[in-house]
Amino acid sequence: MIATPPRGRFITFEGIDGAGKSSQIAAVVALLQAAGIDVEQTREPGGTALGERLRELLLHESMHLETEAMLMFAARREHLAARIGPALERGRWVVCDRFSDATFAYQVGGRGLDRGKFDTLEAWVHPGLQPDLTLLFDLDPALAAARVASTGADPDRFEREQRDFFERVREAYLERARRAPQRICVIDAGRTPEMIRASIEGIVRERFFR
Ligand code: TMP
Repeated sequence: MIATPPRGRFITFEGIDGAGKSSQIAAVVALLQAAGIDVEQTREPGGTALGERLRELLLHESMHLETEAMLMFAARREHLAARIGPALERGRWVVCDRFSDATFAYQVGGRGLDRGKFDTLEAWVHPGLQPDLTLLFDLDPALAAARVASTGADPDRFEREQRDFFERVREAYLERARRAPQRICVIDAGRTPEMIRASIEGIVRERFFR
């Protein structure tokens, strides 16, 4: 009989636009690789050829809010089938920039859509699968907006939203963290990148390397 490898770990990064998570993802991937772990880095929406095409539409085409919500889960379904699931089954670790917490924060919190429908979609698309660890970058939306503006890039459909939208997204994220404190670690993203990196490294070591 061939022994199956242990399932890999699934780590996600979350937060409002401009919270600074992207620059920290590479540091976590490097930390895991230095420990000899086989890591796959990916993102949502996206992560597959089809998912990246859906991402283009989601970020730049105007659409009904429920279309947006279902496309997020459609991209996720593909991502799970083609990439996340097979990687975890082979024992690889997956580090993903956003996952379903983002849908609950943006589409339920920010857009105000009915939460119950999303519980159903989540149970349909990934029954029994949640990240092993979620790092939630928490930042005052005013500071986050200033960071987004300072990049000089054209804002996408989400980045063009007003402050109150991001206040609701932030609150929805924090509410999820309160409901799942073992899984979701809130990171104070108002600190220096060095301080944030050190605190994340501490969390990852404590959670997985002891
Ligand atoms: P990113 O710029 O962090 O890669 O994320 C793309 C945008 O998509 C970001 O503004 C958040 C948004 N988003 C949702 O609204 N719902 C979701 O489920 C996901 C994954 C992202």
